[in-house]
Formats: sequence, structure tokens, C-alpha cells
Amino acid sequence: MALKDLLNWIKPFRLWLALATLSMMLESIAVLLSPWIAGQFAHIVLSETSVLSETSVLPETAKLTGTGVLAETAQLTAGLSVSSIIGLWLFLFTCQAGLRFLSAYLITTSGAKILTSLSRQVYDHLQVLPMAFHQRHQQGDLLALISHDLNVIAQFVTGTLTSIAPLTMTFVGALIMMVLINSLAALLVLILVPAFYLLIKLLGKTIRPLSEALAQAQAESLAHVQHNLSILPALKAFNRENLESRRYAEKVQSVLGIRLKLLTAQALLSPMIQWVASCAILLLLWLLSQQLISEQISAAQVISLIFYGLLLSRPVSSLAGLYGQVQQVRGSSQRLHRMLQQVPEASAGGKLFVAPARGNIAFHGVSFCYPERAPIWSSLNLKIAAGETVAITGPNGAGKTTLLNMLLGFIKPQQGKVLIDGQDIYQYSLASLREQMGLVSQNILLSDESVANNIRYGRPEASDAEVERAARQSGVHEFVARLPQGYDTAIGELGQKLSGGQRQRIALARALLKGSPILLLDEATSMLDPQGEKQFIQQIRNVLKQHTVLLVTHSHENLALADRILHIENGQLSEVSA
Ligand SMILES: Nc1ncnc2c1ncn2[C@@H]1O[C@H](COP(=O)(O)OP(=O)(O)O)[C@@H](O)[C@H]1O
Ligand SMILES: [Mg+2]
Repeated sequence: MALKDLLNWIKPFRLWLALATLSMMLESIAVLLSPWIAGQFAHIVLSETSVLSETSVLPETAKLTGTGVLAETAQLTAGLSVSSIIGLWLFLFTCQAGLRFLSAYLITTSGAKILTSLSRQVYDHLQVLPMAFHQRHQQGDLLALISHDLNVIAQFVTGTLTSIAPLTMTFVGALIMMVLINSLAALLVLILVPAFYLLIKLLGKTIRPLSEALAQAQAESLAHVQHNLSILPALKAFNRENLESRRYAEKVQSVLGIRLKLLTAQALLSPMIQWVASCAILLLLWLLSQQLISEQISAAQVISLIFYGLLLSRPVSSLAGLYGQVQQVRGSSQRLHRMLQQVPEASAGGKLFVAPARGNIAFHGVSFCYPERAPIWSSLNLKIAAGETVAITGPNGAGKTTLLNMLLGFIKPQQGKVLIDGQDIYQYSLASLREQMGLVSQNILLSDESVANNIRYGRPEASDAEVERAARQSGVHEFVARLPQGYDTAIGELGQKLSGGQRQRIALARALLKGSPILLLDEATSMLDPQGEKQFIQQIRNVLKQHTVLLVTHSHENLALADRILHIENGQLSEVSA
């Protein structure tokens, strides 16, 4: 089933892959002709030397080739000279080289294209999955999907899938040619096929669980690096370097252990099968030598047979490795499939378009609990009129941020409805719903770009003047103007090159510039100095009047802005007189 998905993913590249397979098959034909030519070559050379041997120069060879067989082969090679055979051979080698280049080109190109297309698909999908999905999954696992699994898939398609038909053709072709030359060669099939089957079954059983375990261990070690780098200041401040280094060593050690086992199993498979095949071929040769002595077969035919026997060994070991690769790619495809199967959050939203909202907000009998947690709300009712500024207070963990997340459609109430302008928010498309909200979240998330681009994050087309105006409103303009490159200064990953308060002010400017009718400010001035907070509130008072504002706060300065104050505690909401 996972392999069926795989075929679906590579459908857009089927033409390239088919051409690659075709050129490899043509190459196989050229390869298959070589032993036949070698046989022809041997006929001519041996017949000429035997003519010489009759004048007693090389009596041994004459005895070996046998005169009866020679008469027969002289007919076969009539008209072919040594130089024409060498010419034909040269032509074949040239064809082989050309075809090999063509197939390598087609394969590497389509491999790279498949990787690009799948990476884009995965990224786009990860981006539209609901927050609940991302809270359930480690980022490291998702990164491993892009960095490891997609590579496994692309490599399988280009390195393995395309070569199945040409390898099978070489294998079957070589066998048929051998049987045509001498029916004893049919013995090979009788020995090889059941031996392959047994060996592959035996080793395959160990390969699949190992490749699953390897993928898991790799994802864990990647997650460890990614996570620790993202909290590096804490790691250093708490002197965790040695401990974390040991933990990482354990993880990569376990990757190493599994990888070595897997490589051993994979490394065993091909040589074992090749050994069985070689034994079978030696047995055949021994039988043929008996025939040669009794003059039932010519020396030239034996030479062809030896070449075909050697030719068999390449596809034999590659086809044997195929089983392990199929097992590995099956795991990767399953992980990719599971992720792509996850339903994007947009499907939760409706088709309605808010254009633009007046800003009436209501919660009707809303119940909510996070998975495996006690309920936060059992029946929450709340009405906020358009244009109101409502402060929300309450102890840590009371559910203030959760309330805002419900308005944004990040999480969905189990019961009840959240309404904007009298309409269930899930009737709106999520994009149009979120267009109505300017958010300053409690965790400030900025991007690794310039100050200006961060401020215009929600309205990329905003002019420089608009950016500056928003920066003045949030009180960050003076600071930015003093920066070496002003608004073009990069602020580092997550705004690491800024102070907490500066980060918060840029987040405020970003929300103000977006100009949405509803503003959600989640402890948005908590990092501002008291003087700065006072100034900000004076400046912002008039701006806030044009919006519906939900102001989660503990500060008295902020409370003074509010038309109403709501207090949340123990799942209850109460009005506090301002
Ligand atoms: N993703 C989550 N999964 C499980 N529990 C959560 C999650 N997010 C928040 N919580 C819990 O929900 C409660 C309310 O959180 P929150 O709304 O952030 O509180 P606050 O009022 O401080 O903003 C807290 O007890 C918190 O531990
Ligand atoms: Mg909070």
C-alpha cells in the first residue's frame, strides 16, 4: 500500500523515469551481445590456430577444440573476420557508454526533481496542518521526514525502481542465451531461484525492523540537536553542556549500533547470493567440461557460456539487494503518507469571507479541554461589542491565552460556538477570519529579517512611511533610527539581537500596521519599562478606539485603558468593576 502511494508521488516524472529505464534496457541488450561476440571471436581465432595446429605447431589446442565442432563453427562465422568483429565490438562499447551516460543523466535529473517536488509538498502540508498536530509531533521528526525519508524515496525510485526491468532483462536474457547454447544451463534456474527465495526471506526478516528502528533513532538524534540549539542560552546558563553532550552521544551511538546491524545484514545478502550463483555456475562449467571432452560442445561455446555466467552475477546481486531497499522505502513512504494524510486545518473552516468585520465577539456555551487535561471551560458565555476595549485578567494558567487561541481558530471548542458579527467563526474561511485579527502573542515570534520586514509581516505591501508610523505608535522608532542600518537592520533568529521590550514593541507595531478590526494583545506590554508602558498607552489610546480590543493584562496602566474588566479563574468568568 505504501508502494502504491510512492507510484502516485512519482507520477509527474513518469516520462523521465520511463526514458531512463528504456536507455538502461538498451544498454542491457548491448551488454548481452558481448558474450555472443566473444564466442564468435573465439571461433575464428580457434579455427585459425587449429589450421596452424594441423601443421603441428599447436597440437594441444587442436585436440581440445575437436575437428568435428570446428567444421560446424566455420559455417557459423563465415564472412566474419577478426577485424569486423573487433569493429562490431567497438560499436557496442560505444553504444553502451552513450546509453550509460544518457540513463545516468536522466536518473540524476529526475531524482533531483522528485526530491524538490516532494520537499515542497511536505513543507506546504506541514504549514497548513493545525496547531494541534504540531503540538503532538516533535519538530525533529518532521525535519527527519524532509532530510532522511525523502532522500530514501528519491534514491529508491532512481537507483532501484528504474533498474528492476533492465536488470531482470539482463538476468533473463543471459539465462536464455545460455540455455540456447546448451540446454544444461537450465539447471541454473532450478538451483538459483529457490536459493534466492530462501536467502532473501531469511535476511529480509531482519532488515525491515532494523531500517524502521534506524529511521526512528535518526529522527531522535536530529531532534536533540535542533531542540538544544534552540534553547542554547538556557543550556549554557544551567551548565548542561556535559550532560547534553552525553545524551547526544548515547543517541548517535544507538544510531550507529542499528546502522551497523543493518549494513551487515545488507552486506551479507549480496555476497551470499552471489556465492550461491557462482557455485551453480561452477557446477555448470564442470558439467560442460565433460561435454567438451566428449566433443558435444565447442570451446568457443564454452567461452560464450562463461561470459554469460559472469554477466549473470551483476543482476543477481543487485536484484538480491532489492528486497532490503523495498523494506526501507516502505517505512519512509509510510511515514510520508501518514503525514500527508493529516487533514489541513482549512478543512475545519467554511467558505464565508469576512469583509471586514465590525468586531462584535461572542462566546456561546463554550466548553474546551486540551487532550488528556481537565476542562478549562465548561460553559463559557461572553459578549464583547464592536469598538470595546476589554481587559482580561486572571492567574497564570486560567485560560486567557486559550481564549484568544479559540478566537483565532487555532483550537476548536468541543461544545458551543465562538461568533464574530453573529456568525460562527468556523463558517468563515480561516484565512479571512485571521485577516480580521491583529495579534501580539505572549511568546513573541519574530522572523530572521530586517526590522521593516518584521513590522510589515502581515501587510507586505505597506509603504516605508506606514512602517515608520506603526513603529512610532509602538515607541520603537527612536531605537530603530539609531541602528546602523536603521529599518534595514536584521534582528537575528527570533529577534535574538533585540531586548525583550524592543521585541515586544516590534510585535506591537506589526499588529498595529496590519490594521485589522480586532486586536488581541496577550500581555503585550509586559516587558516594557513602566515609563515606556505609560507613554505607549497614552499614544495608543486613540488607535485602540478604532478597534475591538481584547487586552490580556496584569498591569494597572493597561487596565485604565479598558471599558470593561473581565476576570477569569477556575473556569469562571466574572465582570470586575473598573
Ligand atoms: N497545548 C496545550 N496542551 C495541553 N494543555 C495546555 C496547552 N496549552 C495550555 N495548556 C494548559 O491550559 C491551561 C490554560 O493555559 P493558558 O490559556 O495559556 O493560560 P493563561 O491564562 O496563563 O494564558 C494551563 O493550565 C495550561 O497548562
Ligand atoms: Mg497566557
